[in-house]
Amino acid sequence: GDNVMYLAHRYEIEVEGACEASLACCTCHVYVKDGYFDLLPEPKEEEEDMLDMAPFLKPNSRLSCQII
Ligand code: FES
Repeated sequence: GDNVMYLAHRYEIEVEGACEASLACCTCHVYVKDGYFDLLPEPKEEEEDMLDMAPFLKPNSRLSCQII
């Protein structure tokens, strides 16, 4: 699927994605640019749970493989 993680890979932007979008890691953690965070649909509970384990969590943190 075309999530932000795969788009980043396509454009050779360094975002990991160890679990291939199955919500079993937090290596695809990104910070969403100002003004865009609120435009995204709310994260699923599974994403929230994984995000809680991400290092350097910020209010604009998301898992890029879950941004479609
Ligand atoms: Fe593992 Fe996004 S790649 S949760």
